[in-house]
Amino acid sequence: MKRFDLLIHGAEQVVTVAADGARAKAGAAMRDLRIIPHGAVGVSRGLIAYVGPAEGVDIGDAERVVDASGRTVLPGFVDCHTHLVFAGGREKEFARRIAGATYEEIAASGGGIAETVRATRAAPRPDLVEGALERLDSCLGFGTTTIEIKSGYGLDEENEIKLLEVVAELRELHVVDVVPTFLGAHVVPPEYRDRRGDYVALVTERMIPEVARRKLAESCDVFVERGAFTMEEGREILAAAVRHGLRTRVHADQFTAGGGAELAAEFSALSADHLDHAGPESLARLRESGTVAVLLPGVSLFLNQPMPDARRILDAGVPVALATDMNPGSCMSENIQLMGSLAAMQMRMSLEEVVVALTLNAAAALDRSDRVGSIEVGKKADLLVFDVPSYEHIFYHFGVNHLTMVVKNGFMVLEKGYKEA
Ligand code: NIG
Ligand code: FE
Repeated sequence: MKRFDLLIHGAEQVVTVAADGARAKAGAAMRDLRIIPHGAVGVSRGLIAYVGPAEGVDIGDAERVVDASGRTVLPGFVDCHTHLVFAGGREKEFARRIAGATYEEIAASGGGIAETVRATRAAPRPDLVEGALERLDSCLGFGTTTIEIKSGYGLDEENEIKLLEVVAELRELHVVDVVPTFLGAHVVPPEYRDRRGDYVALVTERMIPEVARRKLAESCDVFVERGAFTMEEGREILAAAVRHGLRTRVHADQFTAGGGAELAAEFSALSADHLDHAGPESLARLRESGTVAVLLPGVSLFLNQPMPDARRILDAGVPVALATDMNPGSCMSENIQLMGSLAAMQMRMSLEEVVVALTLNAAAALDRSDRVGSIEVGKKADLLVFDVPSYEHIFYHFGVNHLTMVVKNGFMVLEKGYKEA
């Protein structure tokens, strides 16, 4: 028996993002990547068994050795906010927006989320699974090894449960770790337009108990926004979620300052997401509640809106994560690397902050930073090997995928153009 199943050896940089037990990084700690030059990572039984200088290990101790000279090793990316399970496309709406209609105007005229709800309700389950598996493959190809997926295109009891059952199937079928979130409170479905209270009651009294009982989700999300749910409705929904043992998160202050961030702080939510319009008061509260701010630059790009003010949020001491928000209406992309480039180029996040935001802090937003998000002994062997000599290149030379290998749970699951030495 050799000590390692796999040894990645002689990397130009091993970017560990080591946190020494910290759940997330904020402030100056977000600029500390703990890089090992000429490093090695040893894997045993799916976990990281060694990380340190290449000189510290013997290549004879490994079943397989990967020569990573000239390359950069990172922890697997965590995409902590997606709506990956849906049917149909919204390319017609995309064209309308390009011609001048706004996202909110389209939603108000019965399109937008409601359009995807119609298609998703009508879709046979195997079609939903198949579409999502293809997108998961795409995510993995960009380096996502853990992903959150929300329901939210069912919006009735049967279809919200159907979506979460599809997510449960994905967990069995795909190597990427999938973390399920219940978003029955995405918008009020059209059939409840004149009796919103009844929909909130359906979510709190029927859907949440069922989702919790069957362990179909780990957390409950709510979209607090003009045209979606009020802060008061959001509070009722999250309170029910907590009563049933679910964690919480909020789509907060995306288009307007609607109290979403305050609500997230009030519930010590795992994450407050979007935050384009969050005020200084609410940022201070998020810092105190330990909530991770999940910023979604792909949405701003896709909807042609100003980028979230990341510097203000970072400087307030809130731990920041980045995610795709992959969905058919506000960000049709699985490319998590692009989110890093956008955050750097358009939001003035330093490249170090970007790396922490895509790894450890995103893992914290999913309550998994004890297992993934950094290269530390005992954590899952989820590793990315990039064909570039330093982490800066990944985001600097943008729109190109520099990934050559993905190791998931210690297994090589993706390998491009690599020749054994
Ligand atoms: O995160 N903000 C609300 N929901 C999604 C968009 C969903 C859609 O347009 O289909 C979002 O941006
Ligand atoms: Fe979203």
